[in-house]
Amino acid sequence: MAVLKKFKSRWWSQSDAEYDSEKKERTPTPSWGTSYDIRPLTISQLDECWRLDQRCFIDGEAYSRETFDYLLTAPESVSYRAVTTGGVMAGFVIGLVEPDHTGHVTTVGVAPEHRRRNLAKRLMWQVEDGFRKRNVRLVRLEVRTLNTPAQKLYESLGYTITQKLPKYYSNGGDGLLMLKSLE
Ligand SMILES: CC(C)(COP(=O)(O)OP(=O)(O)OC[C@H]1O[C@@H](n2cnc3c(N)ncnc32)[C@H](O)[C@@H]1OP(=O)(O)O)[C@@H](O)C(=O)NCCC(=O)NCCS
Repeated sequence: MAVLKKFKSRWWSQSDAEYDSEKKERTPTPSWGTSYDIRPLTISQLDECWRLDQRCFIDGEAYSRETFDYLLTAPESVSYRAVTTGGVMAGFVIGLVEPDHTGHVTTVGVAPEHRRRNLAKRLMWQVEDGFRKRNVRLVRLEVRTLNTPAQKLYESLGYTITQKLPKYYSNGGDGLLMLKSLE
């Protein structure tokens, strides 16, 4: 998750304790037969996406609604959502084509009850395809040092750590910069 300097996050976590992305909430687990579509994410889904982000980033900082408004209306936005057949948003990814023509994955999140079903992987493939169509050849992203699940996801997709980002997050947490060249 990228820190977007021009926006304040909605809240800051109190500590940088071990990142637990598997924290369970009281939402029932959908059946393993559930199928998902990947579709473009637009400003029409602003509130649904903002709410889902708050469920995803319970231990870190969630983006403000204003940030989502910007991210989903910017012409350089390349963003997708995963939806169940019932039309519920289960995950999202937001990318930006930066002025230097790198693709920047600013955030990706999957609802706790829909995790480990390859949704983040499918969303990442889709955003990479979207970047390719815009002539992006290099993708970058930032991840918390303690966010092992996300790092494993990115490594499985071919991203490599190229730089440490000390105190990148505003609560003092360190980050890692990861890069991937697109074919
Ligand atoms: C990180 C996150 C997006 C992964 O979403 P997901 O849909 O569960 O991930 P996928 O099912 O696509 O996982 C793909 C691969 O990533 C790795 N991975 C994903 N979650 C993992 C976990 N909890 N522990 C270890 N590896 C994990 C595995 O290699 C996995 O492949 P496998 O299931 O075949 O082993 C999700 O846990 C999340 O939303 N976390 C909170 C928000 C967050 O941290 N976003 C990233 C910010 S940088």
